[in-house]
Amino acid sequence: MKDRRIVILTGAGISKESGLDTFRDPDGIWARLRIEDVATPEAFARAPGRVHDFYNYRRSGLLDPAVAPNAAHLALARLQQDWPGEVLLVTQNIDDLHERAGSPALIHMHGELLKARCLACGSVSPWREAMTVDSLCPACGADGTLRVHVVWFGEMPLEMERIYDALAACDLFVSIGTSGNVYPAAGFVAEARGNGRAHTVELNLEPSESHSLFAECRYGPATQQVPAFVEEMLHDGR
Ligand code: APR
Repeated sequence: MKDRRIVILTGAGISKESGLDTFRDPDGIWARLRIEDVATPEAFARAPGRVHDFYNYRRSGLLDPAVAPNAAHLALARLQQDWPGEVLLVTQNIDDLHERAGSPALIHMHGELLKARCLACGSVSPWREAMTVDSLCPACGADGTLRVHVVWFGEMPLEMERIYDALAACDLFVSIGTSGNVYPAAGFVAEARGNGRAHTVELNLEPSESHSLFAECRYGPATQQVPAFVEEMLHDGR
């Protein structure tokens, strides 16, 4: 049925084949660093320079010319453009690969690596260079009040009301490239099932923590699974 309302959730796995690290794979970020040292408000209060360094490293990796959207990002952008019903794309990722793939709209529920938030004026500004404790806010000019616009552990993800409203109304929920370890995103499949009609699909390299909650699971690299799934949606009117 081509008027179905779709909610798509993506995680770090969709960007892995673009050359960006995941978090919990054996070669992932949390295999090398501790969350409490680089990704909590307490870490930033204790050692802001170390937190800036962590995100400066990830920002320079994302801005490497070799890092580009892959076939999975491109397929989702095509689905958003060609599907006649509503498609809400929600990503846990802080990279800009969905945008660069042509996705017309999305929610970054964990924020964005290429934006800075000012603790003085509250503004959020594009930010592509290294950030330090002396960086000036582009909006208000304050010194030393910038943090990366990323949601840390213990902070509230962004646009949750809009996401829950979409999950309550969707006919299809597709989870791509996420381990199902971190809430509230890991609970989205249960939210969708709770609306009494949503079909739920997991596309991942391997079963996630919440795989048993999905009506349909397909495993393999996102660059193979996602284009194939989108093709079926657009041509077989799944
Ligand atoms: N194709 C599809 N899936 C893949 C691929 C691939 N090429 N490579 C890895 N994966 C899968 C892994 O099997 C794993 O299930 O992607 C998932 C990545 O899981 P995590 O590393 O836990 O990343 P994610 O689920 O996005 O983490 C959620 O945790 O650390 C926080 O804020 C951070 O947004 C992040 C959140």
